[in-house]
Amino acid sequence: MYGLYCLFVLYYLRVGAVVTPTLPSSQEQQAYAAILKALADVKQSRVNLAAQVIRSRGEFDTIKGQLIYFEDSCICGRNNTIAFNSFLSKNTSSFGIQQPIYFDNITLNIGNGYDTRHGLFRAPRNGTYTFSTSVTTPASSQIAVEIVKNGEQLVQLRTINDYTWSMATNVVNVNLIKGDDVWVRHSAIGDANVLQIDDGLYTSFSGFLVHA
Ligand SMILES: *[C@@H]1O[C@H](CO)[C@@H](O)[C@H](O)[C@H]1NC(C)=O
Ligand SMILES: *[C@@H]1O[C@H](CO)[C@@H](O)[C@H](O)[C@H]1NC(C)=O
Ligand SMILES: *[C@@H]1O[C@H](CO)[C@@H](O)[C@H](O)[C@H]1NC(C)=O
Ligand SMILES: *[C@@H]1O[C@H](CO)[C@@H](O)[C@H](O)[C@H]1NC(C)=O
Repeated sequence: MYGLYCLFVLYYLRVGAVVTPTLPSSQEQQAYAAILKALADVKQSRVNLAAQVIRSRGEFDTIKGQLIYFEDSCICGRNNTIAFNSFLSKNTSSFGIQQPIYFDNITLNIGNGYDTRHGLFRAPRNGTYTFSTSVTTPASSQIAVEIVKNGEQLVQLRTINDYTWSMATNVVNVNLIKGDDVWVRHSAIGDANVLQIDDGLYTSFSGFLVHA
């Protein structure tokens, strides 16, 4: 009886010790494949997301660049006024050929475009500007002047030699690049060369930025 019991126990232990390898069922195989596929999908969407982030960052940088350019070039938000008025404060005559006319009485110079040392306007920024000049001569004298950009004629004007005062005015719109110079000079024309003012306000040079 004891021997039989031992046999039984031995049999029991043997059966219990041996792990019989069971193949996964086809259902389990499918579930496993589904998990692998889900993992692959997650990995792929991570890759896509990373690419999207890089693209978005590129777009963001582009927009930021455009914004900086826009801020720099527009007359908005900031005080970007550029405007000046200048006059001859005394009677002046005997101008040489193409001699610059120095408007010495500066009554407005917002944005410091007008260089008071040289009597010329230097564009502080790119943009479209308007310039105007008026010259006045007394009886029996006349003068011809021109507004020039970097030495290139923009407009001409001249007074008439008459029995009384005469005055000429001209206006010009011009695109300037930062650093371009605009000034008024006596023309290369032999004239009486008398530029007349009285009370300081007859002969002027002025300008302003229309649009940056
Ligand atoms: C812009 O600045 C100028 C001085 O640089 C000032 O005279 C003018 O009043 C300012 N304009 C505005 C709208 O702030
Ligand atoms: C400069 O022009 C102003 C008017 O804008 C005038 O009051 C002043 O007397 C002028 N100065 C000179 C030196 O002519
Ligand atoms: C400028 O000349 C005119 C006439 O030629 C004269 O009436 C005026 O007083 C002069 N002005 C000055 C400041 O000398
Ligand atoms: C000004 O104009 C020049 C020439 O077109 C250009 O090279 C430059 O970038 C412009 N500057 C700005 C601030 O727009």
